[in-house]
Amino acid sequence: MHSKSKPSQSVLITGGGTGIGLAFAKELLKQGYGTLILGSRRREILETTATGLRSQFPNQRILTFAFDLRDRSQTESLVQFAFTECGVVDVLINNSGLAVPETIDKLTDDGWNTVMETNLRGAMWLTQMVLPAMVQQDFGDIVNVSSQAGKHGYADVPSYCASKFGLLGFAEAVRDDVCKNGRNIRVFNLCPALVDVESDESSPPRPGFLHVRAMAQTLGYALGLDRNVVLHDIGLSGR
Ligand SMILES: NC(=O)c1ccc[n+]([C@@H]2O[C@H](COP(=O)([O-])OP(=O)(O)OC[C@H]3O[C@@H](n4cnc5c(N)ncnc54)[C@H](OP(=O)(O)O)[C@@H]3O)[C@@H](O)[C@H]2O)c1
Repeated sequence: MHSKSKPSQSVLITGGGTGIGLAFAKELLKQGYGTLILGSRRREILETTATGLRSQFPNQRILTFAFDLRDRSQTESLVQFAFTECGVVDVLINNSGLAVPETIDKLTDDGWNTVMETNLRGAMWLTQMVLPAMVQQDFGDIVNVSSQAGKHGYADVPSYCASKFGLLGFAEAVRDDVCKNGRNIRVFNLCPALVDVESDESSPPRPGFLHVRAMAQTLGYALGLDRNVVLHDIGLSGR
């Protein structure tokens, strides 16, 4: 199975301006990935994040693109931007996501649609849009940020649980497709419990939370495994 050097790879991280996505960006830059594209709705957040990263990693390309994952044409524009800049997306990280806490008795169509369109349909669109070029070059990684709420149901967030369970099923179907067709493409999910995105680099996470750094290290480790390892769902939680 052929590989590509990290400096030659381009990584698209949705929600890359904040929290877990930002920790992923830092880790992958540390590991030497050549180009990162950070995408989300808030342009100022993306720009502030990118400016900070560029000063730490001046020899790598850090690009930003403001888009709304719930809007198909904006999502197509993001992918077009990535193709124009990089030719292909080597690593897609479907990290953008949100929860609308509405218990079953309060669940609204609006809340349900917001969650499903962001967490699940958006990941499906991006996968569908970047996969053909991955197939063409016979190389690629698609990583979804699911959750322990993709493995267990929690009463306060039924729509979030449905979206994160759905992500696992969708990824499994795409993995089955690429494996059946002998593609050098890995599709896997990270399923964290609570992540402390506030702790700085050196301080410990709040009790019961995972440090955001642990998420990033896990991503880096998983991507670094031999390409013939078929990864599925990686569960992780803090003590
Ligand atoms: N923190 C946890 O405890 C935890 C646990 C398990 C799983 N997760 C998952 O981890 C992922 C990252 O969460 P986080 O904790 O790092 O929270 P976060 O900082 O709020 O990250 C969510 C990101 O999604 C982006 N986003 C939301 N709606 C979007 C849209 N319509 N279009 C494009 N981007 C959109 C946001 O950027 P904009 O607002 O700029 O669009 C933001 O950067 C999520 O999928 C979340 O479900 C988090």
